[in-house]
Amino acid sequence: VLSLGAGIDQINLDQLPEAVPIARLVDDSLTRTMTEYAKAAVYRYHRRLHIFEQHSRERIWEFIEPKAACETAVGVLGLGEVGSNIATALQRDGFKVYGWSRSVKSLEMIDTYGGRDGLLSMVGQCEIIVNVLPLTADTRHILARDLFAHFAPGTCLVNMGRGQHVVDADLLEAIDLGHVEAATLDVTALEPLPISHPFWNHPAILITPHVAGLCAPMRAVRTIAANIRRAMAREPLQHQVNLERGY
Ligand SMILES: NC(=O)c1ccc[n+]([C@@H]2O[C@H](COP(=O)([O-])OP(=O)(O)OC[C@H]3O[C@@H](n4cnc5c(N)ncnc54)[C@H](OP(=O)(O)O)[C@@H]3O)[C@@H](O)[C@H]2O)c1
Repeated sequence: VLSLGAGIDQINLDQLPEAVPIARLVDDSLTRTMTEYAKAAVYRYHRRLHIFEQHSRERIWEFIEPKAACETAVGVLGLGEVGSNIATALQRDGFKVYGWSRSVKSLEMIDTYGGRDGLLSMVGQCEIIVNVLPLTADTRHILARDLFAHFAPGTCLVNMGRGQHVVDADLLEAIDLGHVEAATLDVTALEPLPISHPFWNHPAILITPHVAGLCAPMRAVRTIAANIRRAMAREPLQHQVNLERGY
């Protein structure tokens, strides 16, 4: 089975016979567009554009001193194909970058963490958190009250992973409590986000309609064709999912 996305959470694994290999789509254009989106969201918070957007609606002329990139710490949750690219790009731009993954990674000039304790100590050091984890039994609802409580006050959240990573009510509560200052959500538990959902119209939340990562079809089709050839030759697939880990 070849997933047409970077994740496989849309596939009901219980209904597949065992030993059916699943491959996900890993594609340069997807990684590049995800990195562009992450940088756009990070810079919007770093340069306080979300505050100026509100001020401009209220006709408020207030100077806010910009910080240098090295004074803004960004934490990236998930350091796979996409997350490691985002972390490296931000580090090259001068940000202080932290990263978290299941197995602790070694990335130049990036402070990396693993495990629950690592996650809790990492998030407290960051001004901006970018989530690009896959959705698995272990990561579902990871962005919840118990984690938000460890955020430094006023942390900005960028969720580009999956909507089910977030407990929606807990995010709203964390904004009310000041643990989270603002959130950019490219993914939501239900897509499209229902019009009655409190995320719409929330002054601290920006919703984008699952546009962060885009595949160039003419490139992706080559990757897919190559995997079909491998399957027909009974060779291991490229980017084959480890079904025990769930990603
Ligand atoms: N919004 C969009 O348009 C869009 C587009 C593309 C992808 N996505 C999302 O981005 C996700 C990541 O894609 P990818 O290609 O980077 O995936 P990937 O290469 O499989 O990387 C996943 C990363 O998450 C880490 N991870 C997984 N489970 C974990 C856990 N329980 N605790 C800590 N770290 C964990 C992995 O750790 P290890 O390195 O130790 O294995 C790895 O670093 C996709 O699954 C999808 O949900 C969204």
